[in-house]
Amino acid sequence: MKVEQIFTGCLAEMAYYIESNGEAAIVDPLRETQPYIDMAAADNATIKYIFLTHFHADFVSGQYDLAQKTGAKIVFGPNATAEYDFHVGTDGEVFPLGDGKITLLHTPGHTMESSSYLITEKDGSTPYVLTGDCLFIGDVGRPDLAVKSDLTQADLAGHLFDSLRNKIMTLPDDIIVYPNHGAGSACGKNMSSETFDTLENQKKTNYALRADMTKEEFIQEVTAGLKTPPQYFPNNVRMNKSINTSIDDVLSAGTTALDAVTFKEMSEQKDVLVIDTRSKEDYTEQGTVPGAWFIGIDGSFAPWVGALVTNIQQKIIFIADEDKVQEVATRFSRVGYDNTAGYLKGGMDAWKKAGLDFDKIGSMSAQEFGDALAKGEMEKPTDVRKDTEYRSEHAVGVDNFPLDTIHANFSEIDTNKAYYVHCASGYRSLIAASIFMANGVKNVTDVRGGFKAMQETDMPMTDFICPTTFS
Ligand SMILES: [Fe+2]
Repeated sequence: MKVEQIFTGCLAEMAYYIESNGEAAIVDPLRETQPYIDMAAADNATIKYIFLTHFHADFVSGQYDLAQKTGAKIVFGPNATAEYDFHVGTDGEVFPLGDGKITLLHTPGHTMESSSYLITEKDGSTPYVLTGDCLFIGDVGRPDLAVKSDLTQADLAGHLFDSLRNKIMTLPDDIIVYPNHGAGSACGKNMSSETFDTLENQKKTNYALRADMTKEEFIQEVTAGLKTPPQYFPNNVRMNKSINTSIDDVLSAGTTALDAVTFKEMSEQKDVLVIDTRSKEDYTEQGTVPGAWFIGIDGSFAPWVGALVTNIQQKIIFIADEDKVQEVATRFSRVGYDNTAGYLKGGMDAWKKAGLDFDKIGSMSAQEFGDALAKGEMEKPTDVRKDTEYRSEHAVGVDNFPLDTIHANFSEIDTNKAYYVHCASGYRSLIAASIFMANGVKNVTDVRGGFKAMQETDMPMTDFICPTTFS
C-alpha cells in the first residue's frame, strides 16, 4: 500500500494519504479538501474512507466537506459523537482497502475516542501504524486537551498507559510509527522534530515507553508541567463535531478583493479586525493600515491567531501579498476563523495612492537598544517573551510583558509612554508592538533581531532568577 505523510508546518500536523489498487483513504485531513481529491485523482483512485484519530483541538479537520464531495465514509473510534453522519468504529475493526486492509486500534488516553490505524499489506505484513496523538516521536499526547468529561488528567493518563502498553508496544519492533503531530504542536510537550521512527527506536528513546516504567510513574511524568491549552482549542473541538460553513464558501468570502476606500470603511467598523500578514520587513518599512495587528504568515501564524483573536467568530479583513491571499484565507480557516471578509487589493501601495493615512512603528537595532538602555534614555524597554525565557536570561533594566497574556494584562500599559519592544528574534515583538499601537500607544519601537541580536552586543545580561525572593 502507498502511504504518504503530508506535513503542514504551521500546525506541525501530519495527515496521511493511503492508496491501494484504486482505493484511497485519508487520515486526519486539514480543512481544505482539494489537495486530497487531487492526490486520489492522480492515482485514479476513489476515496473510500476518511479516518480520524480523534476530535482535534488544534485545527479544524475537513472530514465533513471531504465526505460531501467524495461520498467517502467518515470513521471515528469508539465513544465519538458528532452532529453529522459517521461510522463509529470498534476496536479491532477491519476496513479493506484495495489489496490491503486498515485495522482500527482503540487507543484512548489523549481523548477517549482516540484511535490508531494499523496498515496491513496483502502478504499480511504490517509496515506502518498511524498513532494520532497517542504516540508521538519522543513524546505521547497530553491527556487533557479540551476534553469535557468526568475523567481527570490522571484517569486519562492511565488509559494512555494501557493503550501504549497493550496496543502499540506489542506491535512488531520494525513497524514505522506515523504520528499526527511533530515539534511545535501544543498537543504534546516534548516532541521531536523527526516525523516518523521505528517502534524499536522509540522504545529506546521515548521517555514514556521505558520498559521498567510503572503506571504511577507514567501518570506522574505525563501530567507534570502541562500548560493550559491555547484558548481556541475548545472552539476547534466543538467545530470538529459540527457541520460548519463549507470551506469553499469560507474561502470565497475570505478572498474578496476590497479596494482601498472600501477596506478603510470596513476597517473603521467596530466589529472588524484588520490583520497584516506580510513579512516583518514589509510591515516595518511600508507601514500599515491604522489599527491593524501584525501576524505574519512567515511565522507561527495559526497558533498566534488562535491565541490572540479571542472571538473565533471575529470578522477579519487582511493585508497580504497578492500571491498569498488564498493561502492566508486558508490558514485562518484551518483554525476555525471562518469570518474573513476580504483583503486589501493592491496592498499598501494602493492604500497610499488613495491618499490614506497609515501607521508605522519605529525600528532600532540591538546595538542602538543597548546604547539607549545604558544611558537610561528609554521609558519602557520591554521584553515580550514568555516569563520562562525572561527568567532564564534577559537584558539588565528590561521589564517582562509576555505576548501570551497581552490582552489580560493590557491595563498595565501606559499609552502615553514610549515602548521599546523585543522578543527572541523579532516576530512576537512586532505582534506585540502592533497590538500596543492598535490600542492607543503612540510611540512604539521594535528591536530588530530581538534577544538573539542583543546577545551579539556587549550589553549586560541577567542570568537565571530564582523564583523565590529573599528579603
Ligand atoms: Fe490532538
